[in-house]
Amino acid sequence: MTDAPAPLALVVLAAGKGTRMKSDLHKVLHPIAGRPMLMHLLASADALEPARKVVVVGAGREQLEKALDGTADLAVQDPQLGTGHAVQQAEGALAGFAGDVLILYGDVPFVRTETMRAMLERLHGDDNPAVVVLGFEPEDALQYGRVIAENGVVTKMVEHKDATEAERACRLCNSGLMAVRGSELFALLARVGNDNAQGEYYLTDIVNVANGDGRVCAVVVTDDADEVAGINSRAELAEAEARWQKKRRLQAMADGASLVAPETVWFAWDTVLGRDVTVEQNVVFGPGVTVADNVVIHAFCHIEGARLEPGVSVGPFARLRPGAVLEEKARVGNFVEVKNAVLHAGAKANHLTYLGDADVGAGANIGAGTITCNYDGYFKYRTVIGERAFIGSNSALIAPVKIGADAIVAAGSAVSRDVADGELRLVRGEQLVKPGWADRFHDAMKRKKAERK
Ligand code: UD1
Ligand code: CA
Repeated sequence: MTDAPAPLALVVLAAGKGTRMKSDLHKVLHPIAGRPMLMHLLASADALEPARKVVVVGAGREQLEKALDGTADLAVQDPQLGTGHAVQQAEGALAGFAGDVLILYGDVPFVRTETMRAMLERLHGDDNPAVVVLGFEPEDALQYGRVIAENGVVTKMVEHKDATEAERACRLCNSGLMAVRGSELFALLARVGNDNAQGEYYLTDIVNVANGDGRVCAVVVTDDADEVAGINSRAELAEAEARWQKKRRLQAMADGASLVAPETVWFAWDTVLGRDVTVEQNVVFGPGVTVADNVVIHAFCHIEGARLEPGVSVGPFARLRPGAVLEEKARVGNFVEVKNAVLHAGAKANHLTYLGDADVGAGANIGAGTITCNYDGYFKYRTVIGERAFIGSNSALIAPVKIGADAIVAAGSAVSRDVADGELRLVRGEQLVKPGWADRFHDAMKRKKAERK
């Protein structure tokens, strides 16, 4: 039986040195699917509506402060004397907090909300456990701490380095995550010493201390080894990315998108796809992309910060950058780059074009090789193209400039002054026409060459 959930505080450990990343960027800020791993973790925990969040940090505090932007408190651990010592640093931030505390690792980013909830529910079980540990049974127990337990009740927590051969034979391992009441956590931690193989204050020892008091401690076991996988190196980061992508591709297909070669499509954490969307081979989604129903994305496109409305067609080989909006049935073809530009319904830019800081009217046709010249080296300027306007191939539209509705810009024009509705604008040098000149030139030159031999 569980009552209404107690208020929740999160303590996220992130003070470890992360040396194996060999990075100036804090380990927990390395992105997976375009989002820092810490933010993935906090998003899953946010579903439990925590009242408090404390991130324990060592080096790189400024980076975390910036990334969190006031959404969590920071507690500094310096020096780093172990996981128990790390949690102790949150005591000030949690002063007076009497709800449940969930201890997470910033470098274990994909723990599911359901798993966190199961731990908290177990904490309020009838046997009133002092601590709930999240355990798992990996293929290879490696260096993990062991959870010696019987029927879900923990009798001992022991680190690999401190364990006997018999204890090492135990396959149930400690993921590191724990749930403890705020009213008990810091009193338990205060009784943890560092007389062990590593000379550290082990968080795991709160279980042993509570057991000594005759309290029950429980283990919740997850059968999903991926959710408790820690990220300690760039290789593990890439593996986590691969697992995330694999799941997301399956989700996209389950939701009604066709991925021709799923393993070649890369999503961002926030990609939104409609139904009957087709994504061809080798497409990369950066953050901030929304794709409506019945959109086709041909092979080799790179799309970021863009909105694609129903019936749009993109690529192959197109690049949509932040602020690109393709309204209903607009088309963007090969080697076209769109940045901060709207193509209104049915507008087309099918070949070799740059549209930046532009507004392209409904039904307008942008010829091959059109460039909006939006930057003078200091400032950016807008190009506005009217409905049904026709921009001839290889035109340069020198912004700020307006092309009227139904206007025609002749091929090869460099347009620097506004074009009125319905106007033809032609900006080219006078054509020189010399019939037979080339024939005479070739004859003369060939003769000259023959004489020199
Ligand atoms: C810890 C557990 C071990 C478990 C393993 C799972 C302890 C004593 N051991 O081992 O039982 O199987 O995690 O990966 O808890 N951290 C700090 N400050 C510190 C030390 C660590 O913030 O002083 C943070 C790290 O940033 C990391 C987490 O705590 O997020 C775990 O640290 P790590 O060194 O990986 O723990 P292990 O000793 O491997
Ligand atoms: Ca570790």
